[in-house]
Amino acid sequence: MKHFLSLEHSDAATLESILKQAALFKQQRSRCPQVLAGQHWALIFAKSSTRTRVSFEVGISELGGRVMFLSSADIQLGRGEPIEDTARVLGRMVHGAVIRTFAQRDVEVFAAQSGIPTINALTDDEHPCQIVADLQTIAERLGSWQGKRVAFLGDGDCNVARSWIWASAHLGFELSIGAPPAFAPAADFMQRLPTGTVKISHDPREAVAGADVVYTDVWVSMGKEAESQERLEALAPWQVNAALMQNAKPAALVMHCLPAYRGKEISAEVLEAHAPVIFEQAENRLHAQKAIMAHCVS
Ligand code: CP
Ligand code: NVA
Repeated sequence: MKHFLSLEHSDAATLESILKQAALFKQQRSRCPQVLAGQHWALIFAKSSTRTRVSFEVGISELGGRVMFLSSADIQLGRGEPIEDTARVLGRMVHGAVIRTFAQRDVEVFAAQSGIPTINALTDDEHPCQIVADLQTIAERLGSWQGKRVAFLGDGDCNVARSWIWASAHLGFELSIGAPPAFAPAADFMQRLPTGTVKISHDPREAVAGADVVYTDVWVSMGKEAESQERLEALAPWQVNAALMQNAKPAALVMHCLPAYRGKEISAEVLEAHAPVIFEQAENRLHAQKAIMAHCVS
């Protein structure tokens, strides 16, 4: 039994093994091993979701398991029952849990107290399942992430950016985070990284120079709505648009975890031009997460 709580505490061998399995699951979708047969899994979500919820629900079913979706607003967790108690109850009833919430500590406490495989489906600190699907997409499109340069633009301290940073630290591809100083990765976070892992740039053109992949995410992450105005103003020069893409490699991929806000972090023109890759990323959530669940129960 294993958990999948962060990329920070993952390693290259584990990620490579999950990605190999994800590619097989994609090739053989109709012949899926029933590794969750006889199991019930709970999805406990305290934030909105389209892709993550649907891909986990379909993925659990395709692996032979049954799923229950628990909005935290509908269970006692939303009325203040401690995560420790929720974990100890669910651990006696279900076989695995997928959690989307605010504090990273909550998924870690749930994993420790429940005794069942626990998967981080997004916290304020990380979005590890997203980056596994993104790496699968890069491998399909570019052959490998090895030797590639990824540029992440926007809120460089958000969950998606942080998971990218850990992926780069483990797998060794080049990563530049392009963000204004107020939205660069936090100093205490950077101290946890091996030195030289990530290049920080405060100039959008410099950040994407020579990039094989230009990646962006929403400027206002869930839970940051009170800062919307400040974020939209500070991040406006960081839009991924056709003019900026002139500075990346000519065949560079544009990637977005979605949902996308056209005219904010990405222009409508660039999003539509790169829609085949962006929606492949979304599909790969299904295959990647099936591989993550298979890893957790192995
Ligand atoms: N990318 C992503 O996690 O999408 P959802 O918020 O729709 O799950
Ligand atoms: N950084 C975004 C990702 C959404 C999938 C958020 O946390 O809202």
